[in-house]
Amino acid sequence: MYNSKIIGLGHYVPDNVVTNQDLSAMMDTNDAWITERTGIKERRWVKPGSGDTTATMGVKAAKIAIERAGIDKDDIDFIVFATLSPDMYFPGPGVQVQHALGIKTVGALDVRNQCSGFVYAIAVADNFIKTGMYKNVLVIGSEVHSHGLDKTTRGRGVSVIFGDGAGAAVLTREEDTSKGILSTHLHSQGEHAEELVLVAPGMGKRWVTDILADNNPDDESYFPHMNGQFVFKNAVVRFSEVIMEGLTKNNLDKEAIDMLIPHQANLRIAQFIQKKFGLDDDKVFNNIQKYGNTTAASIPIALTEAWQEGKIKEGDTVVLAAFGSGFTWGSVIIKW
Ligand code: ACO
Repeated sequence: MYNSKIIGLGHYVPDNVVTNQDLSAMMDTNDAWITERTGIKERRWVKPGSGDTTATMGVKAAKIAIERAGIDKDDIDFIVFATLSPDMYFPGPGVQVQHALGIKTVGALDVRNQCSGFVYAIAVADNFIKTGMYKNVLVIGSEVHSHGLDKTTRGRGVSVIFGDGAGAAVLTREEDTSKGILSTHLHSQGEHAEELVLVAPGMGKRWVTDILADNNPDDESYFPHMNGQFVFKNAVVRFSEVIMEGLTKNNLDKEAIDMLIPHQANLRIAQFIQKKFGLDDDKVFNNIQKYGNTTAASIPIALTEAWQEGKIKEGDTVVLAAFGSGFTWGSVIIKW
């Protein structure tokens, strides 16, 4: 058995900055409401025609991560791509990355776990490496939310929160099992699937043939629906539980945390967790103020920025944690 470790990180966000003020021109909202409830000041939304898509942004982030890893693209043995906003209904973006990077015909797996997507993708990569099946795995989280949001007052409870962007990590084999990814912890609770959901197009409730036949401009099933308060209440409980689960598994206490990178869902959620674990400000990394919630991309973007800013050092205990639609949630405990 081996461990895996992260040896390269990269991120890419589109140039186009959309401020809370910009949103108030599209819908009945305002900077004070968004800032107070979420902490978000601005987000990036891809400009139509820019060429930025979930797959192309993922490729840009991946190129940086591969270069920083100091390996060649042909050393990549497997690709895992997490997103809820693929360029196409199928195939998923993993194969687009394989093609765009000119990587040989390695496997490419798409992960559909929304805000927990990157944590799930890391767990998959880690376990492929732990068992010895692969040596170098490229993990990407990327999202284009902006083309799929209801940017009217009807959709304001959801659309002000989400942003576009991509992050990537290269994982490699680590023979010292006291280093690298120590453990991953994954959970789901499908009874709450419809509390945070995008129904259409789907083969269960909103068939493509029905949508075409109805041709109804008031159909809201194309837009994400979120029961915000219910999601919030579950998030704070599950984040805490799954971080604790990871610490306990590794005989660590909360004082051992050098850096917590929570999924950037809402600054209030991150602050609640910070308080609960008694962590100083320099031990929790947040960038939701700049990017909003970028779902599967949020952890790799935040991890990359924290690393670039010198906030993660060799030997640090780094904790990743996420919660989102499904419900799904998870954590990753890393000895950097
Ligand atoms: N601007 C102004 N007013 C608004 C807006 C807006 N953008 N959106 C909603 N409102 C109004 C509502 O209409 C409501 O008005 P009313 O009281 O007159 O009916 C009022 O503000 C309160 O609305 P709530 O939805 O109750 O607001 P809440 O305090 O719950 O905040 C929020 C909403 C920010 C979405 C919060 O519930 C939240 O962050 N939830 C968790 C999100 C999360 O963690 N998601 C998981 C990850 S996402 C994923 O997995 C894809």
